[in-house]
Amino acid sequence: MSELTLDLRTRPRAAAYDELFAHTAVVLEGVTDPIAGMATISALVHHAFGYLWTGFYRVVEPGRLLRVGPYQGTLGCLEIPFGRGVCGTAAAERRTVIVPDVSAYPGHITCDARARSEIVVPISDRAGALLAVLDVDADVPDAFTTIDATGLEKLVTWFVVSG
Ligand code: SME
Repeated sequence: MSELTLDLRTRPRAAAYDELFAHTAVVLEGVTDPIAGMATISALVHHAFGYLWTGFYRVVEPGRLLRVGPYQGTLGCLEIPFGRGVCGTAAAERRTVIVPDVSAYPGHITCDARARSEIVVPISDRAGALLAVLDVDADVPDAFTTIDATGLEKLVTWFVVSG
């Protein structure tokens, strides 16, 4: 299976996301289980770009609480209330949040002290409800741009059409 886990670090970023989107569709063809989708997407994104932490926080109490889902990386915190940290903010405001410098973000929740920058993308389900957020952390500052936001937002449309 290792040949199916792409390393896209040398590709131009927008093209890398196009390739990752197409690859994810092939790997997840016929899959409808959202947890299987989260596990697969976290592995593919994490290894494609060599991130520090890549994973999902699921909505377990709508409007109130996120709980960790499938992820790659070191131990993630278990629960995050809506409105807390980067993940809780993205969930509460239902918008992608890019944090170029986590040390300058008030309320940032540190799970791995090596984290320097972060992006969190909200995920809708088939019914249009908030299903989860995708959280990606990098060990370098300013790792994420609007290209990453666009690429990851497109990738998580898998949960609307399939999951
Ligand atoms: N940094 C996140 C918490 C989750 S971990 O990074 C895995 C936040 O502030 O929401």
